[in-house]
Amino acid sequence: QRRVRIPHLQARKERGEKWAMLTAYDMYAAEIFDEAGIPVLLVGDSAGNNVFGFETTVPVTVDHLVPLVRAVATATSRALVVADLPFGSYQASPQQALATATRFMKEGLAHAVKLEGGKAMVPEVELLVRAGIPVMGHIGFTPQSEHVLGGYRVQGRGDAADQLLEDALALEAAGCFAIVIEMVPTPAAARVTQELHIPTIGIGAGPECDAQVLVWQDMAGLRGGKSPRFVKKYADLRGELGAAATAYAADVASGEFPSAANSFES
Ligand code: KIV
Ligand code: NA
Repeated sequence: QRRVRIPHLQARKERGEKWAMLTAYDMYAAEIFDEAGIPVLLVGDSAGNNVFGFETTVPVTVDHLVPLVRAVATATSRALVVADLPFGSYQASPQQALATATRFMKEGLAHAVKLEGGKAMVPEVELLVRAGIPVMGHIGFTPQSEHVLGGYRVQGRGDAADQLLEDALALEAAGCFAIVIEMVPTPAAARVTQELHIPTIGIGAGPECDAQVLVWQDMAGLRGGKSPRFVKKYADLRGELGAAATAYAADVASGEFPSAANSFES
């Protein structure tokens, strides 16, 4: 089967067909989501708090993510694989952004990159696109800036909705092929979606975006504790995996495992 490409995503918007994006950080998840027909997989810097055990995405580095991107790209045959540019790896200059994005394309085998920020990121986006690297934008709540934004808070309320639209239009004009909109009120995201020609991908941005994205461990119920409001759990992997580990340990303790069938008799 052929890879999903940017014109396919554009065509979906024009046909009014919604689609789902998921994060992926390893081979099996990537393989499973690829087989399920998820057209775009994001190797997010959300690996910080879903793989590496950090509290935020801020400590994540390029060296953390490159091997994960390569694993996801290698394990898939159909999905478009997007690499997230980590905090501090692209904001210094367009040149820094190009050097980082180039590593993700060459070493990570990514098909596109994502970066956070609105108008301020226009020079970075323009240079990457000119260099042949597709860029996905990310506006609204941008986790890499959580210390400036004052924590996980809904963005784009009231007058900030105009700023959100301006940022989105600037990113589109700079050449972004899609834009993630995170934690903004439904009407603000709907307005951006209507005004843009490129697809919007919502997370906590209501049902009117062209696509949706969730962190896969949230979607599949692997994460413990309370989920954000925008998450819907489609499985209880945490429960399943815990029960499997408990059953395995009990079988070992009782001598039930390994049986003759699991052993080499001679
Ligand atoms: O890192 C990530 O997973 C993301 C998505 C939630 C959009 O940026
Ligand atoms: Na991210």
